[in-house]
Amino acid sequence: MKRFADEIRAAIAAATGIDAAAVRLEKPRDIAMGDFAFPCFVLAKELKQAPPAIAADLAGKLNEDFSNIQAVATGPYLNFKVEVAALSQAVVEGAIAGGNQYGQSDEGAGRRVVIDFSSPNIAKPMHVGHLRSTILGASLHRMHALLGYEPVGINHIGDWGSQFGKLVAAIARWGDTVDIDADPIPALLKLYVRFHDEAEGDPTLEEEARTAFRELESGVEGDVRETWRKITELSLAEFNKTYERLGVEFDLVRGEAWYEDKLTSTLDRIEASGVTEESDGATIVDLTSIRKKMAPCLLKKTDGTTLYATRDMAALFSRHDEFDFHRLLWVVGSDQNLHFEQLKGVLKRMELPWEPACEHVSFGMMRLPEGKLSTRAGKVVFLGDVLDRAVEEARRTIAEKNPDLANAELVAEQVGVGAIVFNDLKRERIKDVVFKWDEVLSFEGETGPYAQYTFARMQSILRKAKASGEEAATTGAAPDWSALEDARGVILCLGRYPDAIRTAAAEAEPSHLTQFILNLCRETNSWYANHRVLGEAPELTAARLALVEAASSVVRAGLTMLGVPAPQEM
Ligand code: ARG
Repeated sequence: MKRFADEIRAAIAAATGIDAAAVRLEKPRDIAMGDFAFPCFVLAKELKQAPPAIAADLAGKLNEDFSNIQAVATGPYLNFKVEVAALSQAVVEGAIAGGNQYGQSDEGAGRRVVIDFSSPNIAKPMHVGHLRSTILGASLHRMHALLGYEPVGINHIGDWGSQFGKLVAAIARWGDTVDIDADPIPALLKLYVRFHDEAEGDPTLEEEARTAFRELESGVEGDVRETWRKITELSLAEFNKTYERLGVEFDLVRGEAWYEDKLTSTLDRIEASGVTEESDGATIVDLTSIRKKMAPCLLKKTDGTTLYATRDMAALFSRHDEFDFHRLLWVVGSDQNLHFEQLKGVLKRMELPWEPACEHVSFGMMRLPEGKLSTRAGKVVFLGDVLDRAVEEARRTIAEKNPDLANAELVAEQVGVGAIVFNDLKRERIKDVVFKWDEVLSFEGETGPYAQYTFARMQSILRKAKASGEEAATTGAAPDWSALEDARGVILCLGRYPDAIRTAAAEAEPSHLTQFILNLCRETNSWYANHRVLGEAPELTAARLALVEAASSVVRAGLTMLGVPAPQEM
């Protein structure tokens, strides 16, 4: 596809004298009009001619040189149609050869992209906001890798802060009333909730918490540090279960505590740039010059303790120094918009040229039918339970639709988890995710199971072809590429996959890819509904089989980028 686009761009450039890189090709509104469109408005000023005249003139010139592309002037547009055999063969063979790496490029060669994602807080359940961050961040990681960037995925675990003083105090008091080792997160949560309940009537609790946190901050080895370390390890082991189910890995698991010994130098660095001020004994950076009424960034409290923002500033400098990133993505929910705006505000006030490279990849909430979640109140929907429930429903559907399926248990896991992931990435990330169980898991509509099912169906056609000896490898028939005109919609779609990946990564918006996959599935299914693949003349069957192979391969490649498994059968 790119080959033809490049050829068209070069031809327009040669005929008009403009730079080929500046030629913007569009997708025609109607596929019947062509495969690419060039709006001639952009040349009107330079050539002092009306766009329709330019289009007509250019069409004549270009057609003299093109061999398998045809240019047609339609009003102010110049539309291009690639000859079917050339297009089909190039796209289908390219897609099959690419496999899961289809769309690969070297645009990112030599460039690091730091992706800060997932980042749950220890001793607390990973909530659905963290699930969204994990799913979004992991897919951005995969896409950047495909495009040749060197992604550095960092899990910025919340393992530091005064709340750990509270937890340590609570464990000291009531640790023996729960079994932390057996089921750590609910046990710790229970203690945390109890602390808040009882602290209201018992001020000594808060004092014990402060003392514990002070000891933790001092860095001395002892009971407090040991308890903190144990809580961290147990929590991470729990989080890892979820990561495993989602097929997610990190390049670095580096929590907030890691930056603890870099906080003083961080404060020094910011102070030295002259942007800090004292306010009631606290250290702040005023940000009203960045945005009127923006709250200041608080870096050090009156009592000398540092904050979440201080640790994030330390992380920023450390990542910049260590990775010299081309881009840094914070994949964190929209409830932290202000926080990241403030971090960027501090960088701006420091006049650091790399500030624009830091992007907050903000996202909306995932609302479960059970209601919003709150740790304080102890009313929590556990993430593992959400996944379990999805798998349970998938298991039931499979038992009903395909009772003889081999590996039913594995497939149920793939369909259940895949449905949650797909649903999460379906809409623009800034929108809230609406969760209706029957909708998420439906085999029809805009769902993960629908895409998986489309893939599995194509795989079954390919298996049948093999079994009946109709595949090209057996019959030796060369595909008749010119017979695929009726599949032009599918082919154009396949050819645009690399663009979908590029846009999704550039905008940090995986929904572009999700929507692409849905579109490809719809195109393929509607073509398949009207055309027979097996049992036609060998050359026709060979061409159609190749198309099915390419389409299924691209659906799988796309699902893989999203982190949705593609079972062979379901
Ligand atoms: N642990 C934080 C939370 O759960 C998210 C951390 C996001 N990353 C960051 N660099 N601040 O709210």
